Amino acid sequence: MQITAAVARERFGPFSVEPLELCDPRPDELLVKIIATGMCQTDQHGRDGYYNTPLPAVFGHEGAGIVSAVGENVSRFAPGDHVVISFPWCGTCANCRRNMESHCLNNFHLKMSGARPDGSTLMRQTDGAPVYSAFFQQSSFATYAIANERFAVNVRKDAPLELLGPFACSGQTGAGPVLNTMRPEPGDAFAVFGVGAVGLSGLMAARIAGCDPLIAVDIHASRLALASELGATHAIDHSGRTDVVAQIRNITGHGVRFSLETSAQPVVLREAVEALMPGGTCVLLGSARAGTEVSLEMPFLQFGRSVHGVIQGESHPPELIPRLVDFLMQGKMPIDKLITFYPLAEINRAAHDSNAGSTIKPVLRMPH
Ligand SMILES: NC(=O)c1ccc[n+]([C@@H]2O[C@H](COP(=O)([O-])OP(=O)(O)OC[C@H]3O[C@@H](n4cnc5c(N)ncnc54)[C@H](O)[C@@H]3O)[C@@H](O)[C@H]2O)c1
Ligand SMILES: [Zn+2]
Ligand SMILES: [Zn+2]
Repeated sequence: MQITAAVARERFGPFSVEPLELCDPRPDELLVKIIATGMCQTDQHGRDGYYNTPLPAVFGHEGAGIVSAVGENVSRFAPGDHVVISFPWCGTCANCRRNMESHCLNNFHLKMSGARPDGSTLMRQTDGAPVYSAFFQQSSFATYAIANERFAVNVRKDAPLELLGPFACSGQTGAGPVLNTMRPEPGDAFAVFGVGAVGLSGLMAARIAGCDPLIAVDIHASRLALASELGATHAIDHSGRTDVVAQIRNITGHGVRFSLETSAQPVVLREAVEALMPGGTCVLLGSARAGTEVSLEMPFLQFGRSVHGVIQGESHPPELIPRLVDFLMQGKMPIDKLITFYPLAEINRAAHDSNAGSTIKPVLRMPH
């Protein structure tokens, strides 16, 4: 069928909105009419060659939409279902067998190769040339996407579908470590470094868990103001020469039990570790380019402090995504405050505004 999609043709180049041909779903796949899809830094990193995804390619991995058709072996979905398309995993590797889907040993290939596991692409140009698609096994910067039923998640129909796409990546990435990995108790001291879409999702989850104090660190005053609105008890502006660690120790005494690093800066990761109390855990979420190193003081770590890298919130999406949607509907996770909508045709403005820091979470609305 003919669709409209945003195609990346060159590294660091603009996205180009074009008509493409999308294949039919296979027996275990869904055809999803995309209503809206979030834009994450990873889409731009993909376009810019961080993961060697071949071009031309269609990115997008925070798709929310309505099931339009199902393959003959699909049992859990029917046309008309509302779905969020999550990240892929192989289901058979040593980590998948331990329910560690987000750390699937094959996930990099499944997310970044631009093709199905068998190497087939989903999209073609109108002249027949293949376009790398199946990014995160979805490529949702498009009016329609094909998703394997294993990675789609049914969501309640009374929830505003156009808000739900970001739960697939930034929402799970931020909230998952708090709810799945740290599991804080009420009153645990918590600091989040970087309050973009990922950090704010973590902050909202930490607030739900009852963390106090709840400290937000960023370089943008507007983002810190939103963090305070969303429950931060303290906001620290890191744009000057502030000694952030000293400020956190002033607030907490011994430091925080948990810190969340989302800025992807080595110096900030070190601060997020130095802000920990003995026995505390820093979760690293920020994606630095391959080869980036950080130094940490060994005796300091020895006192029970740990750094734990987390991908995709260590989540099991069919459990976590509906839980986050329930939090949204209960008013506890107002993700709408993070979102700015753009029509698909203005995807380059969305990317620009995201990079400039003026938009926290761009969400592309599809023309239907
Ligand atoms: N681990 C995963 O599975 C996963 C998944 C999605 C995204 N990510 C990564 O998570 C990171 C956050 O994503 P996002 O969408 O929220 O991006 P973002 O750019 O909106 O957020 C990063 C925040 O860090 C802040 N920051 C920059 N320098 C800082 C400093 N010196 N001190 C404090 N704050 C500083 C920025 O102002 C910004 O608000 C990105 O690196 C992204 O690629 C990781
Ligand atoms: Zn696996
Ligand atoms: Zn993402």
